[in-house]
Amino acid sequence: MLFKKSIDALILESNETGEGTLKRTLSAGNLIALGIGAIIGAGLFVRTAAAAAEHSGPAVTLSFILAALGCALAGLCYAEFASMIPIAGSAYTYSYATMGEVVAWIIGWDLVLEYAVGAATVAIAWSEYLNKLIENFGVSIPYEYCHSPFQTSMEGVQGIINLPALFIVILLTFVLIRGTQESATINGVIVIMKVAIVLVFIAIGWGFMNPDNHIPYIPENIGEVKLQKGEQSYYDFFVNDFGNFGLSGIIAGAGVVFFAFIGFDAVSTAAQEAKNPKKDMPIGILVSLAICTVLYVLFGHVLTGVANYTEFNMAGKEASVAYAIETYMHGYHWLSVLVTVAILAGFSSVILVMLLGQSRVFFSMSKDGLVPKVFSAVHPKYKTPYKSNLIFLVFVGLFAAFVPGDVVGDMTSIGTLFAFTLVCIGVLVLRHTDPLRERPFKTPFMPFVPILGAAVCILMMVGLGAHNWERLLIWMILGMVIYYAYSKKHSVVRRKHREGKS
Ligand code: ALA
Repeated sequence: MLFKKSIDALILESNETGEGTLKRTLSAGNLIALGIGAIIGAGLFVRTAAAAAEHSGPAVTLSFILAALGCALAGLCYAEFASMIPIAGSAYTYSYATMGEVVAWIIGWDLVLEYAVGAATVAIAWSEYLNKLIENFGVSIPYEYCHSPFQTSMEGVQGIINLPALFIVILLTFVLIRGTQESATINGVIVIMKVAIVLVFIAIGWGFMNPDNHIPYIPENIGEVKLQKGEQSYYDFFVNDFGNFGLSGIIAGAGVVFFAFIGFDAVSTAAQEAKNPKKDMPIGILVSLAICTVLYVLFGHVLTGVANYTEFNMAGKEASVAYAIETYMHGYHWLSVLVTVAILAGFSSVILVMLLGQSRVFFSMSKDGLVPKVFSAVHPKYKTPYKSNLIFLVFVGLFAAFVPGDVVGDMTSIGTLFAFTLVCIGVLVLRHTDPLRERPFKTPFMPFVPILGAAVCILMMVGLGAHNWERLLIWMILGMVIYYAYSKKHSVVRRKHREGKS
């Protein structure tokens, strides 16, 4: 049988924690700002260049469009899920009440990839831009102390540890433990700053684009050509050439830049605080996605126009935006410094939101008995789950210090895409198994939206390649082992069920 959490119990719990009393104060405009605040970060300022260099060339713009399509479809499903249960929460909470404990566990465990590993990714990106900034003062951190042991510089220096990435994770963890009420004003300032630098870069960079850099717009994939001519089998193509530019490169690039959209689901978690969820939720999700997509496409177009995409595998591999400005936009050194400072601030807020999201999910899981109590132990003075924050400091810190940015970035993408796929399928299943439950917001065009949403997400997962599937599989197997060895035995819902029977 399915062990579910009752929705009444959820609402009761949220009343105890004061969540049930959240005021409906957020307008559609606030929701859009919330979305954009959580979205723009390392995905745009670091992963765009990586996707262009390794997979899609200038057609990274098309990768953005594909990724946005997947997000929009999954976002509409997320919104239905969120509106069914009128409390603040995440996919974990919603799935526990609707699809049962095992699915909830899978999603909760998978969200560690989105939040904790995602935080490590942004921390590593922070380290790149910090290095770029201090170069202005004639200092730089030696390569070995700001790179993972799995990275080697063009001069052959091997990394040891990424100290700046570790530093920012430590700093922000302590900020979190002290308790942050990320105020709407600070969030508002950061949103304006982030959008402003993107707009300024697009506007000024437009004049520095070299049309030759955009030819060809979709670099050729030799494997695809051979496949068309029948000179290569599909198997060989998948193993050797999939994602090396061409059309398959656009798909692989979408999997990479998908990272840039992560966070828009934050809008759906504010369902309970929306003034008019029915109308404002889809507006909040879709408009913030649409604004970001337009910005990203223009940004990708300008970035690959100012510098050639091949350079992002060489000298421009790190802090690519600052590199492009300094190398090609003469007279705009000030812009590079400004962009770098704004990026550092913007990244910090994204890391904070991700660390906070992680501790919230594990807090709920711990209350449900699925992970140990230590994850819901609250600091006597600061009232924050400090032990959980410290445990995740070790976890995130290890990734930030010792794993390369592209590895953690793609792990975050595949993990989040997996969660989105489950949400799409979940909405579809629930319409059949629980058709009568009230749904203040309904996913439109059923069943096409969830089916297409799941399909696009799976396509991007395919684009991320075999190594990332292996990593996801290992992570999920580890999760299942923990579930059967620990969580199932300690589950509060199961215990109550047993007590009810005896
Ligand atoms: N979308 C967020 C970023 O790009 C996670 O940093």
